[in-house]
Amino acid sequence: MRVVEAFRETFQAEPEGVWHAPGRVNLIGEHTDYNDGFVLPFAVPWGVTAAVSPRQDDVVRLRSLQADGVVTLRSLDEAEGWARYVAGVFLALREAGHPVRGADLVVDGDVPQGAGLSSSAALEVAVCVALNDLYGLALDGMRVALAARRAENDFVGMPCGIMDQAASALAQEGRALFMDCRSLATRNVPFDPAAHGLRLLIVNTGVRHALADGQYARRRQECENAAKRLGVDSLRDVTDLAGALGRLDGDERRRVQHVVTENHRVEALIGLLRAGAVREIGALLNASHLSLRDQFQVSCPELDVAVEASVRGGARGARMTGGGFGGSVITLVPEERVEAVRDSVTAAYAERGWAAPEIYPAAPSAGARRLI
Ligand code: GLA
Repeated sequence: MRVVEAFRETFQAEPEGVWHAPGRVNLIGEHTDYNDGFVLPFAVPWGVTAAVSPRQDDVVRLRSLQADGVVTLRSLDEAEGWARYVAGVFLALREAGHPVRGADLVVDGDVPQGAGLSSSAALEVAVCVALNDLYGLALDGMRVALAARRAENDFVGMPCGIMDQAASALAQEGRALFMDCRSLATRNVPFDPAAHGLRLLIVNTGVRHALADGQYARRRQECENAAKRLGVDSLRDVTDLAGALGRLDGDERRRVQHVVTENHRVEALIGLLRAGAVREIGALLNASHLSLRDQFQVSCPELDVAVEASVRGGARGARMTGGGFGGSVITLVPEERVEAVRDSVTAAYAERGWAAPEIYPAAPSAGARRLI
């Protein structure tokens, strides 16, 4: 294994173990996690593999096969760039009182870059499960996810919800992960499109617009403001949508419209899966996309064109997935239409003079685990 060879070469020793954590794609339930709502992501076949050994001191030495050099952190605050995601996990665990000392780590990632498939959550969770095992912390999957999110919120400074880290930590092969982001209850729901003659494709637009992070924080704030105005703890608690909309206007009104209806779409989609009506979920994917485009306003032309071209090519449904302003589209396609959808999306991009998007098949894959 490449990461083990690199560990030997870098640290002249065998790693104590090797762990893997995947990235994720979200089937539905977008911008609902930080509103105490519902999400339904699944793990992708790509992720981060980490070869790790504990140390007797508090030093952290790090190498990534996707970056140059070895980073030595005598103090975790010194971390820069990608190393902050790793340092953040050590800090989050130590701050929670766990007896975590230093480590030597080599990480190797294959999550497509810029695809919005949570390569950062994969890195955080891979490091967190490694430290969990090596230092005998006995954290369950959700506690691993919470520590990984704290790393991102407090140390990297991205105010994300719990979806990405939870998906990486708790997903199972052949299943999507239904999660109530208020109670943190989760359920692995069987999801096997292939058994219904369907394929899931991920269309990576290859763009990430510069405003992504600022707009994400702003959407969160708008949702909190709207909840306050409505006198509820979070938008999860809005039961009378018509009444709520009557008391709001402008952007806040649109945000509430999206979040409340998106939670219902997650529940409806679960109901269809339970009924074995996988072909019918496409309409909910389409509705989710329109709501994200028009009400939550986090789409962009590259995402919209990929969605429209997928549907024109014969997809049952398609939507942007993840935070928005770039990243990927997920599209549900009948087997016999896969080539037509690929051609349709590629042609639509070419017509506009945009670089061809990468298109990959994705089946629900396993969550974080120890490999060696
Ligand atoms: C990003 C965040 C998640 C979630 C999605 C939107 O991926 O990291 O917590 O809020 O955006 O659904």
